[in-house]
Order: sequence, then C-alpha cells, then structure tokens
Amino acid sequence: MESYKTQDPEVYSIIKDEILRQENELQMIASENYASRAVMDAVGSVLTNKYAEGYPNKRYYGGCKHVDEAEELAILRAKKLFGAESVNVQPHSGAQANMAVFLGFLNPGDTVLGMSLDHGGHLSHGSKVNFSGRIYSSVFYGVREETFLIDYDQVEELALKHKPKLIIAGWSSYPRDLDYKRFREIADKSGSLLLADIAHPSGLIAAGLYSDPIPHCDFVTSTTHKTLRGPRGGIIMMKEEHSKIINSRVFPGTQGGPLMNSIVAKAIAFKEALDDSFKDYQKQVLINSRRLAEILMKNGFNCITGGTDTHLVLLDLRDSGFTGKDAEKALSDAGITTNKNAIPFDPQPPAIASGVRIGTPGVTTRGMKEEEIDIIGELIVEAIKNGENQEVLISCKKRVNDLCSRFPIYKDLLI
Ligand SMILES: Cc1ncc(COP(=O)(O)O)c(C=O)c1O
Repeated sequence: MESYKTQDPEVYSIIKDEILRQENELQMIASENYASRAVMDAVGSVLTNKYAEGYPNKRYYGGCKHVDEAEELAILRAKKLFGAESVNVQPHSGAQANMAVFLGFLNPGDTVLGMSLDHGGHLSHGSKVNFSGRIYSSVFYGVREETFLIDYDQVEELALKHKPKLIIAGWSSYPRDLDYKRFREIADKSGSLLLADIAHPSGLIAAGLYSDPIPHCDFVTSTTHKTLRGPRGGIIMMKEEHSKIINSRVFPGTQGGPLMNSIVAKAIAFKEALDDSFKDYQKQVLINSRRLAEILMKNGFNCITGGTDTHLVLLDLRDSGFTGKDAEKALSDAGITTNKNAIPFDPQPPAIASGVRIGTPGVTTRGMKEEEIDIIGELIVEAIKNGENQEVLISCKKRVNDLCSRFPIYKDLLI
C-alpha cells in the first residue's frame, strides 16, 4: 500500500511543512510536547481500523482479542504510574474525560465550583461557552490579587454557601502547586465530590514532583499529551466505587467506539513515564522553567507569583508597555511559539490579554538544559522588546533555528 508521501502530495507537503516548523522553531506552548516515535507509530498503526465499543471482554464487536490486550495493558500501566484504584483510558480528550464525570454524578442544573477561566481555570470547568456551564450551574473561585495564589478561604466560603455537587481543582495557566488536602477538607465540609483535573501537571505528578491528588480526590482526569508526552487523549482515574458509573458515561454516555490506536499509544506513553529517565526529564522540565522565570525577571519582566512550581511561566506584561497579543506575535516572528494568555484581574480583553504562557516540556524533550534556556530567555526578551523591528526579529529567528539544529527531534521523519 502506498504511503501518503507518494499517494497524496498535497497532504505530504502540509505534513512536511509542519515537521519543519516543529523541528526548526522553539515549541513553547505549555500544553504541547514532542511525542516519541513509538507513540506516533502506534497512533498510525492498524489499530485505527478497529471498532471496539464496550470494554475488554465485553465488546459489541468481534475481533477484539488484541485490542482488549492493548486496553488492559494501558489500564495496568496507568494504575501503576499514578497509583489509581481504577482507570478509564478511553476518553478521546481531556474535555471528554471531564464530561463523563459531570454526566455521571451531576444532574442538569446542579452546581459546580471551579477555578475561573480568567484566573487560570479551563473551559470545561463551568464556562458559559462550554457544555459544563450551559447544562450546569457554575460558581468560580480565583486567586488573591496581592499574591496571585489560590484563595482557599474563598473556595471554602463559596463551597459552604453554594453546596456544589462537584468541586474542581485544576488549571490551565496557574504556575503553582495545589493543596489537594485542603480541597478535600472543603469538599467534605460542603458535602461535594472532588475532581482534580491534572491535564497540565500529570507528567510532573507521575514523576513525584507535584502534589499527588489521587489520595484526596474522587476523580482525577488528565490529558495524555501535555507533560505526560503521550498521544492526544484523556484518561479518568477514580475510586473503584465510581468506576461502573464513569465507565458507562464514557461509553455509551458520551462516546462511541474508542480510538484503539490512541489507547495503545497511551500504553506506550505510560511505559515511557514509568522509566527512571522520565523522572530525570521532568526534573529538567522544572529546572528549565524556573531558570526561564529567573532570566525573564532579571531582565525586568514580571512573572505571575514570582516564579513557578510547574512546567510553565506566566509572563505578566502589564508594566512593560506590551500586550500579550504583541508579545505572542513578536515571539512567533522570532520562531518561538507561545500563546497570549489572560492574567488574573487582566485589564485587557482575552483577545489582547496582558500575559504570555511559556512552557518548557517541548524544549526539554529535545534535550535542552540550563545553557540553552539562558539563550532562549535572552531571545524572548530581545524579541518582545523589539516586536516592531523586523531586522531584530529575523536575527532572533536565525539564532532560534541554529539552536534547534543542535537538538534535532523529528529530522529522520523527512527521509
Ligand atoms: C485543565 C485542562 N483540562 C482539560 C483540557 C482539555 O483537554 P483537550 O484539549 O484534550 O480536550 C485542558 C486543555 O488544555 C486543560 O488545560
């Protein structure tokens, strides 16, 4: 059978250009990473052909012997990696994983208490534009204005006032650790279920470098493609007592056939994450993000909370004269991909924003360490400060390309 390389030149050209973009530029979006060749091969394997509605040994289709083995292996490895009682590896994405929890344990109109989107939460935690805010009633907690740290007193106050069915502890752009024990105490006081959404820090948690939510939460959802470095997808970890309901809400509740190619790739990613080298990788991710924050601050920029406990730095541009939109564009012209991001109490609308979120998982996967982070930090500062000067941006991009050429990642895919 022909490969797309010869069978579909238009598609080949698009994929080739994307390989070159990922190879030659610095990918610093905090929710992205470079999956291993093994993970990507598995996503492109024959398991993509298989229908397997149901669960291992309880399928609605024949021919599932091998995909059953794949799913059981993924579950076994995820349990080992996170120490979870029960795991569902079928969610197509992080948002789908959250949806299964909502559908399983809430009725339409029930109240959810989550972190506000503009303080670092996620759309699927009750935002009005998402199913979670359209079907359910949402209340939001946030961070304190003086510290930008989560205001746990406010969480407790809101929980006692609104008695939410579900409290969500999780974020997309909060650079600090979470106190899951405190969330549990609050949930117990308000009679709420507790969901930790670890889509972002799951790799750090797997490596023991961020607080572990499993002992404290009823449900833990995650994506598998961010710090965890697997294929795109979601997982749900839960106490055994909740597994029957959750499994039935994933299938048939919200999804049809599971993506068995992604599930087998998740199994590979979990194996990679169980290896000691993954712990070293995550340690370096943290060293790199902390160093980056230091460099940016030394050069006069503010970072929300004055640093990070995670793989991301949230640059606060309010005092700099630049907006998040300006900075994202300047960095992009310099070959550094990031995203503009609202900061808490942002004076700018979300489409402009006063922040930029910068993550180190991708560059660390490429093997970049402190020495390279120093260069990257300088390039970020130079690019943002010279956002109107194309000459400087072109020179920055050249240095970015040179740096990337010393840390090849997918070059062999072009052969
Ligand atoms: C905290 C959190 N939850 C859920 C999601 C959704 O994941 P997905 O894009 O796979 O639906 C994200 C994605 O950025 C996230 O940051």
